[in-house]
Amino acid sequence: MKHVPTSVAIVTTTVGGRPVGLTVGSFASVSLDPALVTFFVDHQSTTWPLMANSDTFAINILGHGQGECCRSFSSKGADRFAGVDWTASDDGDPVLAEASVVLECSKHSTRPLGDHLQVVGQVQKLHVLREELPLVFHQGSFLNLDHLVSA
Ligand SMILES: Cc1cc2nc3c(=O)[nH]c(=O)nc-3n(C[C@H](O)[C@H](O)[C@H](O)COP(=O)(O)O)c2cc1C
Repeated sequence: MKHVPTSVAIVTTTVGGRPVGLTVGSFASVSLDPALVTFFVDHQSTTWPLMANSDTFAINILGHGQGECCRSFSSKGADRFAGVDWTASDDGDPVLAEASVVLECSKHSTRPLGDHLQVVGQVQKLHVLREELPLVFHQGSFLNLDHLVSA
């Protein structure tokens, strides 16, 4: 699967007033009406169990210059929010200032699939914080994008 490029998103929520989050490359849009999105969490994740009881979460899609944020939110033991500028959504979920697009979601459903858990979110609000090229992960690196070409 390392040959398949992915977007990079930070899924966030608050637990007992403290922000928690993790990096996912498995974000995908599922349905437009209703607006449903999904991502997949490894059963071995130690961060997701902290987040699992939250009814809401934010999905922060990273732009091309945010590789450091991707690494930080996938590092074990790190204080992932240290030095990170964020504000709380109405539901209290961290909206990262450096994200390019943020989807505020309510949890629609979850189901185990193989060694991952599929999480489906219903999009309640969508914010485009800035128009910029996306952070793209491929073969353990970030793509160096110069510009987009027409599809
Ligand atoms: C680019 C990238 C994409 C990732 N995508 C996922 C993912 O979709 N699902 C997942 O469970 N972990 C994914 N990870 C790994 C988690 O971010 C990370 O291993 C995990 O949060 C750290 O372990 P913890 O959950 O025990 O804190 C990804 C990591 C990187 C760098």
